[in-house]
Amino acid sequence: MPESAVDGRTWLLSGPASSYAVHVTEADELVHLHWGARIALADAEALAVRPLPDYWPFESPLDGREEYPVEGGARFVRPALSVRTAERRGTEWTFAGHETDGDELRLRFRDAGLAITLHYRMRGDVVERWTTLRNEGEQPLELLRADSATWTLPDRDGWRLSQLHGRWAAESRLARSPLTYGEKVIGSRRGHTGHQHLPWVALDTDATEEHGEVYGCALGWSGSWRIAVAQLPDARVQVTGGAGYDDSGLLTLAAGESFTTPVFAGLWSDGGFGGASRAWHAYQLAHIVPGADRDRPVLFNSWEATWFDISEEQQTALARRAAAIGVELFVVDDGWFGARTGDHAGLGDWTPNPDRFPHGLKPLADQVHALGMQFGIWVEPEMVNPDSELYRAHPDWVQFQLGRKRTELRNQLVLNLAREDVQEYLWQQLDTLLSSAPIDYVKWDFNRCFTDAGWPDDPYPQRLWVDHVRALYALLDRLRAAHPGVAFESCSGGGGRIDLGIMSRADQVWTSDNTDPLDRLAIQHGFTQIHPARTMAAWVTDSPNAQLNGRVSSLRFRFVSAMAGVLGIGGDLTEWTEEELAEARRWVELYKEIRPVVQRGDLYRLRPPEGGLSAVQYVRGEESVVLAWLQAQRHGEPVPALRLRGLDPTASYECRETGEIHRGAVLLHHGLRTGLRGDLDASVIRLRRI
Ligand code: GLA
Repeated sequence: MPESAVDGRTWLLSGPASSYAVHVTEADELVHLHWGARIALADAEALAVRPLPDYWPFESPLDGREEYPVEGGARFVRPALSVRTAERRGTEWTFAGHETDGDELRLRFRDAGLAITLHYRMRGDVVERWTTLRNEGEQPLELLRADSATWTLPDRDGWRLSQLHGRWAAESRLARSPLTYGEKVIGSRRGHTGHQHLPWVALDTDATEEHGEVYGCALGWSGSWRIAVAQLPDARVQVTGGAGYDDSGLLTLAAGESFTTPVFAGLWSDGGFGGASRAWHAYQLAHIVPGADRDRPVLFNSWEATWFDISEEQQTALARRAAAIGVELFVVDDGWFGARTGDHAGLGDWTPNPDRFPHGLKPLADQVHALGMQFGIWVEPEMVNPDSELYRAHPDWVQFQLGRKRTELRNQLVLNLAREDVQEYLWQQLDTLLSSAPIDYVKWDFNRCFTDAGWPDDPYPQRLWVDHVRALYALLDRLRAAHPGVAFESCSGGGGRIDLGIMSRADQVWTSDNTDPLDRLAIQHGFTQIHPARTMAAWVTDSPNAQLNGRVSSLRFRFVSAMAGVLGIGGDLTEWTEEELAEARRWVELYKEIRPVVQRGDLYRLRPPEGGLSAVQYVRGEESVVLAWLQAQRHGEPVPALRLRGLDPTASYECRETGEIHRGAVLLHHGLRTGLRGDLDASVIRLRRI
């Protein structure tokens, strides 16, 4: 529950370990007081009476101290809010009161015709912040920029910035570097979250994996977005972020209309990068990911096995083999619908291809169910191939600009989801599809960026950037409500749409199209900085790796790599030998046993993937699982023992692999010997407290 001071202008929110405090000055400026270790309301009150520095005239005392810097007045930082009407630009607000509603604090401000509400809610040690803007005037009001929140860090020396950058098939790479004066801006101007950056940053001064203060900020938005990290002239650091990349216009609010920004969540932890990750994971499992108390099944996906060349008979053959090795969910990827025999045609026509599935999907779905598995399919609803029935009937349903060419990427165009007729068409198609066969799972893909995001009939076509995401969310919400038994996977050419917004509507995400088990370790290392293993889909595919680098690796190495998240299999099982299938069956069985620990336990990154030995440990109750990978062994460089985490030093642990009994203190301080050797070796080590 937020606490209010008697002055009616100072508030404190506290989680189990941290607090957040703000204050409205006599001049109605909303200043930040505290974000960090837990404090008392009296501490916040003491901070509230500390005077602002005397900086005039070339600097502003407000810069680096405001919760939500608006445009206008003596402010020189990047504004979180920039608005324009026919008469004026900028904001001069007055404080209009506060409300607490359960665990939510709302601070209300008003400028002529504009009502601004800043929302705060503490969930665990995650502070959720968002903003509502309402046009209460008579005239239209243009939102040029409306960030969700601005975060202020305490005065410290030597801030470092961590980010997750990448590109297709090389997503979520962790980079960490000193912050210097000026601004660092990350984001996406592509219409979707993007492979290039996850909407997350972390800031620290001297943290290690297990010690030290870490501040993290993560945005819940699946369209274009921007996070700007600024070190100001007096060395203070602020992070501001929200929907949209540019400042050139987000939406126009007609009289009476309002806009609610996405949530920008912030987390303080003093448990190092690992502690921060575990807190982010716990937050998502408790508040974001649907049905997170249930384990995700082991799936088979047909993409790398059969690409576009699919038929009912061949998928049935794969399904038999998948069922025999213990797969629980069989997913038919691209190629089952319309004229989709390659990526040149068919997107938009969501009915089964009559040559490939003459009696629809039901016979295959029934067979899959008879084999004891769930049945899933791939769709890419937001797209259309020009060579499709849909496009021939409705060429104006795509994003386009009059008189300009329609840029095709992967031979496809983006549907204008801001249009109600398009929304209704997709709802009808997908609702019919999910009712036509017993479908338990939908892999929802998005395989190109926006390029010609125009809407010739709309007076303010820019709004389609925001409205596309809102329509996507609404469609997913409606489908989930109408088909509550169906689980959804978010995919965008791999990890191109991973953020807290889509996470609240997806049961899991496709981490990357890169299924090489060694490359994957770096991607997974980055992914788990913010998101939990319970959402991180990973497949065992064929060796040599067909799609990417041709690397040859053992089934063991591929399995142990994929077992770090939600295990899937994506190889051509009809080509696997009896020995390989038997080995695969054993790995799947082992995975099912460790699954609750991997998917819902606390995750400790023991050693990063660069260099020889890397490892991840999961702890849940009495059980712990260590997954370890040795990239290459060099003679004369012994493979180090793995110092474990999260164990009780006074307890003993039985190694389920060897039967050995280890003392907790020995494992914590001197480590576990893995016995790994050679190149690309890997192992699973199960420990149970005795
Ligand atoms: C994207 C996905 C793949 C696969 C293909 C199908 O690239 O990331 O997993 O579904 O589309 O076209």
